[in-house]
Amino acid sequence: MTEKHIYCPNPYILAEIMPYGYVYPCSCGWIKGYYFGNIFEQSFDEIWNGEKAKEFRQKLYDNDFSLCPGCQNLEILSETQDKEAQLISKPPERILLGLDETCDVKCIFCRGENYKIDTNLIPKDKEDKLLEILTPWLENAKYVKTNAVGEVFASKISRALIKNIADNFPNIKFELITNGIQCTKENIEKLNLVNKISMITVSLHAMKETTYNKIVKGGNFKKVIENIEYISKLKKEGKIERFELHFTVTSINYKEMKDIIKYARKIDAKIRFLGLDCSKDCEKIYKQINIQDRNHPKFNNLVKVVQDKQIKNSSDIVIQGLEYFTELKPLSIKEKLKNIFRK
Ligand SMILES: C[S@@+](CC[C@H](N)C(=O)[O-])C[C@H]1O[C@@H](n2cnc3c(N)ncnc32)[C@H](O)[C@@H]1O
Ligand code: SF4
Ligand code: SF4
Repeated sequence: MTEKHIYCPNPYILAEIMPYGYVYPCSCGWIKGYYFGNIFEQSFDEIWNGEKAKEFRQKLYDNDFSLCPGCQNLEILSETQDKEAQLISKPPERILLGLDETCDVKCIFCRGENYKIDTNLIPKDKEDKLLEILTPWLENAKYVKTNAVGEVFASKISRALIKNIADNFPNIKFELITNGIQCTKENIEKLNLVNKISMITVSLHAMKETTYNKIVKGGNFKKVIENIEYISKLKKEGKIERFELHFTVTSINYKEMKDIIKYARKIDAKIRFLGLDCSKDCEKIYKQINIQDRNHPKFNNLVKVVQDKQIKNSSDIVIQGLEYFTELKPLSIKEKLKNIFRK
């Protein structure tokens, strides 16, 4: 019997370049923070094809998922016919940038009232050299997704970087993740992003303004809706390929899940419901609003909502963080391995 090996594309195609310059081959929570290197301290080759990258690729080839304990993307795993592990990779096709955490609001599950933005995520002497440092990473890139840790339109550094990338790498398409407040026609034009956006994700955690205000402190519901209408027009005209709304599920907003599904369909967007994570300075509120916890008094109400046939069987609805919802658990890595090896 030939030995089977599993292949995951991420450590060959994806680089997540995150606060302080650390490079991860996948969502850092899923891989417990295992990084390949640091863009402010090492060269591209030292990171992308260095010892830590090779070790990661070798382990996956050996069906050793010990570095991926939180994987939530089992559907991208497949069997490989390669006789040995491919340890060296060409530059990544997808870059996720999350270098600056500046934001114009404080969402209750992301930043507590006393949250202070860390201005040292990018060394001061490197701020003007970001494009130069990132150039080898961008050479083969088809997509740049940003900003994973802050608000792209609210940050001077992020805005300058995006415009520089758009001006210097005309073939790169952008995937924007935004709270929607400053995602206006004018700002899209200013950043040279017209006809360069492949996806926009707008975080909209409520359909009622009163609920939105309980979650997004300092936000502007009406402005977000106005900007969503503009993005929807671009989507309907075929000027952006994908449009998603993101809705982080809590005890405050779960009753509005069905309303946002209706709204998403009206504006030609997909909807992604995100499970709640415990971020370090929101522990207190997390306990109160974490409806995914079996012991939360409203837990059963949430299960009823997500078990609704309309939600379960719809291709335009994604529920991410499924392990939190009873009876909707995804396969574990072990089961996925067993299924592939059984064939
Ligand atoms: C960190 S934000 C960055 C992009 C942009 N500022 C935004 O809000 O869309 C990316 C996504 O993470 C989600 N998020 C933030 N903190 C979270 C938490 N503790 N649990 C689950 N999702 C969270 C937000 O709701 C948002 O959809
Ligand atoms: S196996 Fe899962 S966690 Fe590991 S790199 Fe692939 S997608 Fe990421
Ligand atoms: S808008 Fe995004 S980055 Fe800003 S506080 Fe909310 S979730 Fe965090």
